[in-house]
Amino acid sequence: MADVKRVCCIGAGYVGGPTCAIIASKCPDITVTVVDLSQARINEWNSDKLPIFEPGLDDLVKQCRGKNLFFSTEIEKGIKEADLIFISVNTPTKNYGIGKGRAADLKYIESAARKIAEVAVSSKIVVEKSTVPVKAAESIAHILQANHRRGVHYQVLSNPEFLAEGTAVKDLMYPDRVLIGGELSEEGNRAIMALSNIYQHWVPKDNIITMNTWSSELSKLTANAFLAQRISSINAISAVCEATGADVSEVAHAIGTDSRIGPKFLQASVGFGGSCFQKDVLNLVYLCECLNLPDVAVYWQTVIEMNEFQKRRFARRVIEALFNTVTNKRIAIFGFAFKKDTGDTRESPSIYICKYLMDEQAKLAIYDPKVDHEQMISDLTHPSISDNPTRVQELVTLTKDPYEAARSAHAIVICTEWDEFKDYDYQKIYDSMLKPAFIFDGRMILDHKQLQKIGYHVETIGKRLSDDVHTGKSTSVP
Ligand code: UDX
Ligand code: UDX
Ligand code: ADP
Repeated sequence: MADVKRVCCIGAGYVGGPTCAIIASKCPDITVTVVDLSQARINEWNSDKLPIFEPGLDDLVKQCRGKNLFFSTEIEKGIKEADLIFISVNTPTKNYGIGKGRAADLKYIESAARKIAEVAVSSKIVVEKSTVPVKAAESIAHILQANHRRGVHYQVLSNPEFLAEGTAVKDLMYPDRVLIGGELSEEGNRAIMALSNIYQHWVPKDNIITMNTWSSELSKLTANAFLAQRISSINAISAVCEATGADVSEVAHAIGTDSRIGPKFLQASVGFGGSCFQKDVLNLVYLCECLNLPDVAVYWQTVIEMNEFQKRRFARRVIEALFNTVTNKRIAIFGFAFKKDTGDTRESPSIYICKYLMDEQAKLAIYDPKVDHEQMISDLTHPSISDNPTRVQELVTLTKDPYEAARSAHAIVICTEWDEFKDYDYQKIYDSMLKPAFIFDGRMILDHKQLQKIGYHVETIGKRLSDDVHTGKSTSVP
């Protein structure tokens, strides 16, 4: 089965959609069909307004859609026709039963595997793309083998995706590496080669790494755990900087020039968000507990705890600077997405900052260039965030204009590093705010000196900009 002609991807989400758009554009000889249970989602993929925002994705989809890229709810047809099937469904953290709050919920993966077993009439290569716990491929293989029809054979591969949201197209076009894990057998090797051949349409062979399935699965969890750990480590240091007068950007620069450490992923922030980091670290913690390695579990758990600490610490600083009370004070929140260039809000630190401020009865005016207002309300009224949805509606105003959000506000809180935030007319904004006017730059993206010149009281992560929070007069620490 070295020659894959038809690919089906189950799950038209943040991973499945962009991945298949790239495969279709780079492999004109392959027909790619992305299927999903959600008719609404498929309709959006077939419309002018795609369900996800990713720079460069619109053009790519327009170029291939209807030629060799199709979006459909005909899951059974997609499976039947395909030589190779990606499983790219969601694997959220379980919110019930055994492993609640830590283990990955594999029900969507299992249901996709059962569907394949139910309808396939020819042999398939089944590729797990979703981030899953170690040994998930084994479970998929088990389900397939226990239900297979005569003459139908399966090879299950692990092919974790390393794309980051906001740069998905670039990451897929020029991946640092492609990782393929498979069974160490002749059939396993053949399947690995078949998938590798797809990637070799645009990825140099040397950048395609093959290994055993479990190593591949564990590598994905480990990569995300290491990345999350770097952010928690620099965020921990940011707290030390604020207490001592050191500047976390200077520290990050200094350590990043050590080639053993490297400069990337050392940006202190309000905390990391996104659908992967927390979920995958918790997965790793749960795995270690199940393997009777409690010390290892505790080690990784602290990465999450430091992230919680950072989000809480930042919100507390806002409250303290605003004279220890934010009750009924209008506070503009700039940014609701978990990072720039995406409309995704999953685990966004902004949600938690808003929660902590709402717990203190602050009135929030929220602006984000890409996040839908219904999404913001859905996140803020989620039972884990608020037990009083009516109160949330009373406290929160959603705006389509940042100047409107800041008007008559006591403070602006930057939660996402959108580029446009750097280009606003901060003099005009200052003139419309209550005084003293505060800016809390949770992403270290603004020109703090300039803002201080205008008259703002500025606070940021990992650096003391002012000594006297109560006069609103800022004095730079040399
Ligand atoms: C370290 C720092 O590297 C150096 O920059 C600083 O100035 C002093 O501390 P050193 O302790 O001399 O230098 O050696 P290093 O190569 O860092 O190794 C330290 C320990 O870590 C050794 O026991 C080494 O075996 C171990 N190590 C290092 C690992 O176990 N794994 C590794 O990947 C690297
Ligand atoms: C991550 C991994 O990067 C990607 O390889 C994997 O496939 C999925 O998970 P993603 O969550 O989309 O990607 O975005 P990423 O750029 O990693 O950012 C995650 C969070 O960390 C964001 O909230 C971001 O703002 C934050 N972050 C990132 C920092 O706070 N500081 C940094 O230096 C880098
Ligand atoms: P990710 O970020 O991992 O891509 P998403 O939540 O964005 O996750 O997308 C996962 C998609 O998978 C959703 O659109 C969901 O409807 C779809 N899905 C989940 N289970 C199945 C299934 N059994 N068959 C088809 N699609 C599924």
